[in-house]
Amino acid sequence: MYRSHTCGELRDSHINTDVVLSGWVHKTRDKGFVVWVDLRDRYGITQLVFDEDRTSAELLEKSRNLGREFVIQIKGTVIERASKNDKIPTGAIEVLVKELTVLNVSKTPPFTIENETDGGEDLRMKYRYLDIRRNPVKNNLIFRSKVTMEVRNYLSQEGFIEVETPYLIKSTPEGARDFVVPSRMNEGQFYALPQSPQTFKQLLMVGGMDKYFQIVKCFRDEDLRADRQPEFTQIDCEMAFVEQEDILEVFEGLTKYLLKEINGVEIDKFPRITFDEAMAKYGNDKPDIRFGMEFGELNEVAQHKDFNVFNSAELVVGIAIPSGNSYTRKEIDKLTDWVKRPQVGALGMVYCRCNEDGTYKSSVDKFYDQDDLAQWAKATGAKAGDLICVLSGDKNKVRGQLSALRMEMAQRLGLRKSDEFAPLWVVDFPLLELDEETGHYHAMHHPFTSPKPGQLELLDKDPGAVRANAYDLVLNGNEIGGGSIRIHDKETQSIMFKHLGFTPEEAKAQFGFLMDAFQYGAPPHGGIAFGLDRLVSILGGQETIRDFIAFPKNNNGRDVMIDAPAPIDDGQLKELNLKLDL
Ligand code: AMO
Repeated sequence: MYRSHTCGELRDSHINTDVVLSGWVHKTRDKGFVVWVDLRDRYGITQLVFDEDRTSAELLEKSRNLGREFVIQIKGTVIERASKNDKIPTGAIEVLVKELTVLNVSKTPPFTIENETDGGEDLRMKYRYLDIRRNPVKNNLIFRSKVTMEVRNYLSQEGFIEVETPYLIKSTPEGARDFVVPSRMNEGQFYALPQSPQTFKQLLMVGGMDKYFQIVKCFRDEDLRADRQPEFTQIDCEMAFVEQEDILEVFEGLTKYLLKEINGVEIDKFPRITFDEAMAKYGNDKPDIRFGMEFGELNEVAQHKDFNVFNSAELVVGIAIPSGNSYTRKEIDKLTDWVKRPQVGALGMVYCRCNEDGTYKSSVDKFYDQDDLAQWAKATGAKAGDLICVLSGDKNKVRGQLSALRMEMAQRLGLRKSDEFAPLWVVDFPLLELDEETGHYHAMHHPFTSPKPGQLELLDKDPGAVRANAYDLVLNGNEIGGGSIRIHDKETQSIMFKHLGFTPEEAKAQFGFLMDAFQYGAPPHGGIAFGLDRLVSILGGQETIRDFIAFPKNNNGRDVMIDAPAPIDDGQLKELNLKLDL
């Protein structure tokens, strides 16, 4: 038996008990006549003691040779500590060691295994297995496991069946590039790793599975960010005989259940806003509604004077920054520089101070009088003491720029509190999105999403105006889930493919299997997928998903620990028909 107890378990009720513990040497303190060793495992730290009076000279000497991270087993007796440590749960006791076995030695780790480590990001990634020994990473993984278990509990209670779908498939277009896998047995042919199990879950509905879920790896070859990994995990779900309302209800239920079980937070009904409203109010389809600073459109109240910048703009829009009137001129100039950075891209910023005495002072006083500025304040909801920041230009661009400013100011003002949760549904997404570069439309969600009833005809006349039965779940400014009601008949699906620029032959070659299946009694169906990594990190009060993934990739898509991706040898290349002998 390696251990009778864990290193997090012993309390004063165990005093005088004989115990066997195993773990890692966290720290040793040698005072000459006494040696203390902190023994660590997943569950905590227990202090071991060896001393001149009660320990044999041989054992005392042995304890002096223990290095950091040695793996040891001890047998001993729990005794009361002379100076108690109330910072750790085992702080009332220590274990007087009678036998010590070194199970394995360790090289000195390249960084300290402490909550605040001296190791930089790259080093910790290279030795991720050591990083996982540290509490912050370990606790994140335990947290993830708990969330995953609660997801399974909820969905199982709701009658969902977990079904696995294949990883070696054919490309599913979800907007990103595929990772491909060459087939040895089929020369010149490739599998694609799924960007999501989208088509398979729809086929499961045709197969009568009715309520499906899967906690599943998805693979997307796209540029990486804090909330994106090339392989990530979805809670993927699909239901038959449902309308949008049914899906929203079940998955609002899941989110509420998780917030309650995991965070102890109870939220009543989730607000819903349309995509158009989200863009107009927040300039963003995943608004953070933990704070206000909603957009005020100013076209009507700012385009009647001689200020040409505003007059020629498609949109003039502002936000009120709470207590922003306290900013100095220099600080406002800095803010203007911030919005003019290439990453944000504004051409300039107009501001208006809302003075405590009810008067206004703007950077464009030449054009606007106090009554005009009072209208700006009304439209942006600005109060005395606030600062109104106004941007103008092309509607889509300017909304994006002001949204960036809104988020930045909320961050600076400490309004993005990680223990506050503000979920909402964004509904009625456009079906199609115009790709500015190619001038072609592509599916905003994916090609299997159904248009809203009665809007199919609009596809020919005004494709950009067609709305979809598509919805996203947003939590604290992050898109944590997205889904739609699907097309379930061959004709409509063919029309969609045509509008997405597929010839009938191309559609048949890529999606013939799905169109065929639709001819054998496909039920009406729809679903959603949550990004598990995102959900877990937000519930855990953070926004970087990498910290909640055991072995993540870095920003170049590399696993620096195993050093992947890596070349393969010529023999393997040849076998895969990828390269002939040089
Ligand atoms: P979608 O593409 O919106 O929908 O993906 C669903 C959710 O997955 C998460 N996500 C990611 N998380 C981490 N890294 C990434 N690279 C990444 N990409 C996406 C997001 C997102 O909301 N098949 C559809 C779902 C459906 O229609 O049912 C789909 O995959 O949180």
